[in-house]
Amino acid sequence: MTRLHVNGREHTVDVAPDTPVLWALRDAMGLQGTKFGCGAGLCGACTVHLDGQAVRSCVTPVSAAAGRRIVTVEAATGGQDAVGKAVHAAWVKHDVAQCGYCQSGQIMTATAFLRSLPRGRQPTADEIDAAMAGNLCRCGTYARIREAVADAARTLA
Ligand code: FES
Repeated sequence: MTRLHVNGREHTVDVAPDTPVLWALRDAMGLQGTKFGCGAGLCGACTVHLDGQAVRSCVTPVSAAAGRRIVTVEAATGGQDAVGKAVHAAWVKHDVAQCGYCQSGQIMTATAFLRSLPRGRQPTADEIDAAMAGNLCRCGTYARIREAVADAARTLA
């Protein structure tokens, strides 16, 4: 048994210690907003926050996440958090998603990036591209992602 702190609640999951957090979330907890893409830490579809940092849940074992705060896309943009609300609104405004499969991972990376900036700091396009570079999108929505992240940063200024 492993105790995981997910989206503000404690969960006890009956999985092996080396089980990736991705599968504990999706299969043991039913949180299917976090997506499986490559399973090798290469695409970013499975991105969640671990103590506020964007991590690849497909290569993070539950043993490394026990006792730490995990936040998934289900909680990252649905509450009253200013960054989450700004990112959600910008994603809708810029109609970012195409097929949508990678977008929860994109949003998790974007929110972690925006939280890492000093308050009011507006990232350059190059900084946004660098921050988002690990999240792949087969539909090629990168330009809209860049616009949405910049827009969310302006909202937060
Ligand atoms: Fe985790 Fe691709 S599924 S990085």
